[in-house]
Amino acid sequence: MSKPRVWISRPFFPDIVDRLREHFEVTQEAEERAYTPVELVAHLKDADAAIIGLADRIDADILRHTPKLRFVANTGVGYNNLDLAALTEAGVGASNTPDVLNETVADYAWALMLAAARRVGEAERWLRAGQWKGSRFEGWLGADVHGKTIGILGMGRIGQAIARRASGFRSPVIYHNRSRLDAAIEKECGATYVDKATLLAQADHLVLVLPFTPANRHSIGAAELKAMKPTATLTNIARGGIVDDEALARALADGEIAAAALDVFEGEPQVHPDLLEQDNVVLSPHIASASRDTRRDMASLAVDNVLAAFGHGPCAGRPPTILNPGVLADAS
Ligand code: GLV
Repeated sequence: MSKPRVWISRPFFPDIVDRLREHFEVTQEAEERAYTPVELVAHLKDADAAIIGLADRIDADILRHTPKLRFVANTGVGYNNLDLAALTEAGVGASNTPDVLNETVADYAWALMLAAARRVGEAERWLRAGQWKGSRFEGWLGADVHGKTIGILGMGRIGQAIARRASGFRSPVIYHNRSRLDAAIEKECGATYVDKATLLAQADHLVLVLPFTPANRHSIGAAELKAMKPTATLTNIARGGIVDDEALARALADGEIAAAALDVFEGEPQVHPDLLEQDNVVLSPHIASASRDTRRDMASLAVDNVLAAFGHGPCAGRPPTILNPGVLADAS
């Protein structure tokens, strides 16, 4: 009997991909790029499984043309590129990569927050441009992070990991979330629940860690930016679209907030041109989980899910991070 086929939409770690070969015919793209829906269908129409990235959107239109497809493993924790209802309806299992990236993303949130507060990107650009002719005692004044109030909007596992780091900075943490955390977790994270208006008004450094849903689109727009302190920073490591990037560029230009740091953008890889004009914003190309160890763990978890969905490996039959487990139950 021929082996099922798995399509991998981009190159990664050959030794991890090799774990699939005993059980699957593997096709892996040698270059990473965005696929049109037509190209995705061409790659997926004969595939039994796929390992994809956040730029690969799988929806009902694609699934109409992929009758063999049984499982899609997303190499990311966020899965707004997947229409989960359509996948479930089509009987296709789907997984993401939660937890393995929490600490790495939390590290990066702090890196961006610190960079924005202390103007690291701006200062480096200035130095590289040969403008450092002598020091100015009052030059490059930024904002402290230690001892300042850290605000977190969206308090899932990554938000909690960000909060835990605050104790070393002696920084109080306030958070807002759809649902309040258990008291024991709040205590462990040293985080105090507040409403969104209080979060915006009191945070010295606000970090966004919300999943993207249509309801969360532009959770931070012109009104929210106006409600923040003029000395505050805003860091978005969540998803493009949670912030109204145009309104943010305006707020940065008008001094409504002091600085921002963004790893994600509306319509990425395009970046709003008005943001590119602003010096007081740190911009990075969606790399919060990109440490070598964590990207390997994410790839490995995606492979484990595919193996398990087809009855192989230690979790045979139970993909460890399946998003729609009912699909497999229905198939058995
Ligand atoms: C990255 O953005 C992810 O969702 O893993």
